[in-house]
Amino acid sequence: MKKLYLFYPKKIGHIAPEIYGHFSEHIGGVFYDGLWVGKDSDIPNIKGFRKDLAEKLRAINPPVLRWPGGCFAERYDWRDGIGADRPVRPNFWMFRDGKYESNEVGTHEFMDLCETIGAKAYFAANITSVPPMHILNWMDYCLTPRGESALALEREKNGHPEPFDIPFWGVGNENWGYGGFMRPESYVDEFFRFAMLMNPGRDPKIKLFACGSDKDKYDWSHGVINGLARRSKQVNGFAMHYYCGSAGDPVAFTKEEWTQQLLQANKMDEIIRRNWNIICAHGTEEHIKLVVDEWGCWHPDGSGPSRGAFLFEQQNTIRDAMVAALTLNIFNNHCDKVIMANIAQVVNNLHSLFLAHGKDCIVTPTYWVFDMYKEHQGGDCIETYVTENEDFASSLSVSASVKNGKTLITLANLSPDRDTELALEAIGAAIPASAEACIIYEDDLHAKNTFDDPNAVAPQKLTLDLTKPITVPRASILAISF
Ligand code: AHR
Repeated sequence: MKKLYLFYPKKIGHIAPEIYGHFSEHIGGVFYDGLWVGKDSDIPNIKGFRKDLAEKLRAINPPVLRWPGGCFAERYDWRDGIGADRPVRPNFWMFRDGKYESNEVGTHEFMDLCETIGAKAYFAANITSVPPMHILNWMDYCLTPRGESALALEREKNGHPEPFDIPFWGVGNENWGYGGFMRPESYVDEFFRFAMLMNPGRDPKIKLFACGSDKDKYDWSHGVINGLARRSKQVNGFAMHYYCGSAGDPVAFTKEEWTQQLLQANKMDEIIRRNWNIICAHGTEEHIKLVVDEWGCWHPDGSGPSRGAFLFEQQNTIRDAMVAALTLNIFNNHCDKVIMANIAQVVNNLHSLFLAHGKDCIVTPTYWVFDMYKEHQGGDCIETYVTENEDFASSLSVSASVKNGKTLITLANLSPDRDTELALEAIGAAIPASAEACIIYEDDLHAKNTFDDPNAVAPQKLTLDLTKPITVPRASILAISF
């Protein structure tokens, strides 16, 4: 039997709601046929966005939505997405799928979506194919008070007199890769060229995030943080990406591949620790926190319902839900370092919460993880310890938070074949005799939701007797609140 200790006096920190953030890029089926169906569609919609999806997304309290990319951001001209005449342009991703960008969704429409789902906006600014003035103009258009500038008047003419609220701005995307294949030193120069215009007075309402590393690109982290340290007050976040790839077939993996996938996902912990130490080594931890603005599984194309028609769309099983549960526990336990994270991407793409096409729209097992974990947002994460947890393949991933006197414990049994008996013990508080719980558990490790069987995977509610050890079934995700 394992024991879970809850150390109430030992607060790790405040869990920024933005750790439960999302990402939406103009790629494949994310916007067109995914989020966006158009205002004249006979598919129920709110201002052109799929109603069913928007309402379900709102129900999990999405704190922030990143847009318009990804790589797409680095060739995006914001002027294409405002006003009545929207030019069709080559999409960044057309070298993969041959599709053009209609620009039907632009700044106003995206902000409508954020309002509908109750999320803050996080804009990724293009720094490789436009000059800084272009981004300054976008910010002027979006943020200047009513009537105060020519661009604010243009925004008013386009139907939005009041400024938009856009607190988060990324300065470039993957500039070590398709965002210019830059060296760290050149990126730092570009960062300041843009940042000095984007937030010269360090307005605390605007947060600027620098392009962080990918996986184990620690040379990038060292070089960029070293350069940013010169004026670290100008930077609020170091925005890393980590995709944990794939192991075996996305829907027909073996037990060994199940564990392999989780091991790859668990690398997030090391990546956070190492990057944070680089930040600390440069004495910049007061100003520069970690952001993980793209994360998730990345399976080979073609397993999703479009069978490859939507670029990067993949099917999502219990294993993907387990990766999400493990990763969100890691973020909670590092909430003193990580201030935002955005799973990639919201619909019809990599590690999606929704799959949609035409009139069909379903939630994936990963959606339910975000639902079960949502009360962690804004809570205080407390330290936890699980005994006999050394063997990764059969370990329990855990995090716990306290908010308004309520405790939420989220557990994931990583073992594909071993149930765990678990006793709870609290230091600094009392464990009640019983608690409400919610569990995702299926006999089949490969269980998934499909258009034909949309509710195959859904959480079940239960009441737990905490006077005795509880059973955490193999491959299950359990949320306990009291
Ligand atoms: O999420 C898909 C792509 O993955 C993004 O555009 C890019 O930033 C990353 O490489």
